[in-house]
Amino acid sequence: MDLVKRLEEYRDRERNLGWEGTFAQYFEIATRQPSVAQLSHERIYNMILAAGVETTRLGEPRYTFFSHDIFGLEKPLQQIVEYFHSSAQRLEVRKRILLLMGPVGGGKSTIVHLLKRGLETYSRADAGAGYVIKECPMNEEPLHLIPPDLRPDVEKEFGLYIEGELCPQCRWLLENKYDGKIEDVPVRRMVFSEKNRWGIGTFTPSDPKSQDIAELVGGIDLSTIGEVGVESDPRAYRFDGELNIANRGVMEFVEMLKTDEKFLYVLLTLSQEQNIKTGRFAMIYADEVVISHTNENEYASFVGNRKSEALQDRIILVKVPYNLRVSDEVKIYEKLLGQSALTDVHIAPYTLRIASIFAVLTRLEQSKKAGMSLMKKLKLYDGEDVEEYKQKDIRELQEETVREGMDGISPRYVINRLSSALVRERVTCINPIDALRALRDGLDQHTSISRDEREEYLNFINEARKEYDDMARKEVQRAFVYSFEESARTLLNNYLDNVEAYCNKTKIKDPITEEDMDPDEHLMRSIEEQIGITDNAKKAFREEILIRISSLARRGQTFAYTSHERLKEAIEKKLFADLRDVVKITTSTKTPDAEQLKRTNEVVSRLISDHGYCPVCANELLRYVGSLLNR
Ligand SMILES: Nc1ncnc2c1ncn2[C@@H]1O[C@H](COP(=O)(O)OP(=O)(O)OP(=O)(O)O)[C@@H](O)[C@H]1O
Ligand SMILES: [Mg+2]
Ligand SMILES: [Zn+2]
Ligand SMILES: [Zn+2]
Repeated sequence: MDLVKRLEEYRDRERNLGWEGTFAQYFEIATRQPSVAQLSHERIYNMILAAGVETTRLGEPRYTFFSHDIFGLEKPLQQIVEYFHSSAQRLEVRKRILLLMGPVGGGKSTIVHLLKRGLETYSRADAGAGYVIKECPMNEEPLHLIPPDLRPDVEKEFGLYIEGELCPQCRWLLENKYDGKIEDVPVRRMVFSEKNRWGIGTFTPSDPKSQDIAELVGGIDLSTIGEVGVESDPRAYRFDGELNIANRGVMEFVEMLKTDEKFLYVLLTLSQEQNIKTGRFAMIYADEVVISHTNENEYASFVGNRKSEALQDRIILVKVPYNLRVSDEVKIYEKLLGQSALTDVHIAPYTLRIASIFAVLTRLEQSKKAGMSLMKKLKLYDGEDVEEYKQKDIRELQEETVREGMDGISPRYVINRLSSALVRERVTCINPIDALRALRDGLDQHTSISRDEREEYLNFINEARKEYDDMARKEVQRAFVYSFEESARTLLNNYLDNVEAYCNKTKIKDPITEEDMDPDEHLMRSIEEQIGITDNAKKAFREEILIRISSLARRGQTFAYTSHERLKEAIEKKLFADLRDVVKITTSTKTPDAEQLKRTNEVVSRLISDHGYCPVCANELLRYVGSLLNR
């Protein structure tokens, strides 16, 4: 990169952001680019659109603004964007409070966080630029300086919509400091920043007895009250409540419904009249988005309380359930693990997927449809057609549900459990079985789940485990198929050793322990059955093979798996139809001969080079599948 050029650009940008001038100069800017004077909802709506919109497989819009961080919540996000869309058109809904309701750890705070961070970035870009009266504690829109009488003309001529009155402090400044000379009032560029309390506020309820309403709406300034004498002088007031400083932007009201009624009352005024009622002053105009979040229980008791009816009416509720798509759940974990410091630990393939299957299972509601198990539903939701059910059936399934996704295991729980498995001493890799174990062990400490739920969850762990068993088997078989020749030879040698021992009525030697063992009847039959050799015919077949071996040996040739047509067929069939037994032989640790070890190593390297395994989990996978097949 060209550092000097980049530094110049950076300086230009910072200079732009530090722009200061007079109201007259600002007005020039505003007439050229009316978007600088857009209201809070409109700015946020444009910010979301500016990041781009895609259309999903199901024909629904997906907003890029959220799509790198929020997964599987298309519907709530659409509702949120709709709210901003209508509000941007200055419809009545913009006066409502946006309330996100959903289960713990379902992404509510993350959504709000994205909007806040987004505003910070967007306000630094040209498209999101805005300006404020320099000395205004509430970052007021400079157009408020224009007297109401002149506004209709300004609106008509320049297309600038002006809403709201000057705050008491600016009114005082205009009269006393600038002698009413509006054009001289200093204006500066606005850059949103939560840290600096510019345009972004957060209110968190604490103890209602000690929490002061001033936190929300500001209060008397004890340091200046002595100088100015009267409390009604705007200089004696600090306009630094969260609602004040969030003017032009967003205020997040954390756990709104946990708060005391007196705070909610302020919100009611704000939402009804777009005014903050502050101490001794008349209403103060504010233009901001209030977003809050809550859980289902609190919302239910809020709705049940008649006293809250007026406020209920002022709320736009968006349900934020848990994600229900396994592949999106995997993305959530990848995101969270990527943010953590656990980068030197390997996560075996399928680990996150299996954990996700468990998590999603706990969130699904049983369907009444014939033959529709939770696992089938899970797969359908994830985009897979299962037996007679197709993607088009999803809608019906969803219509059946009452509150699907509103409870179950949260991503946070899963990540906590995975992390605890990951930080165990000397762990270099975790696999799906480790993950399931960690999830299971955590259920005991999980305080908010009942006994019945725990039982149910243990079942889901089993279900997830079964899914994994299937995946693991297929994974290993696939790795084996690549070296078919090798497989065939291993299988053949094994077979011949056993046949020899069988015909000669001897034992076969374990190559490592040197222990004598009986010939493996099951192995021999499993090959012979492939070509329909009955139990009665097996002896003759085996003897025939032995004769062929010795006749070849007399001519100095070795028996290969291609030396006997029918045996070749049996072996191929066996391999192609089901690699189960090959895998079993090779992965069973009891009798690995040199050939088998070589083959195991090949499979291990293939798993490492092509399928994302590390040596630890590749070997564990083989051992695991070996034990599965030996059951
Ligand atoms: N659908 C999702 N997409 C992406 N990340 C998610 C999703 N759901 C949860 N998360 C992640 O899980 C963690 C918990 O989510 P968050 O804190 O936003 O939940 P919350 O709904 O605010 O929970 P609480 O009610 O406990 O405050 C976050 O790190 C978040 O990024
Ligand atoms: Mg939260
Ligand atoms: Zn002001
Ligand atoms: Zn690994």
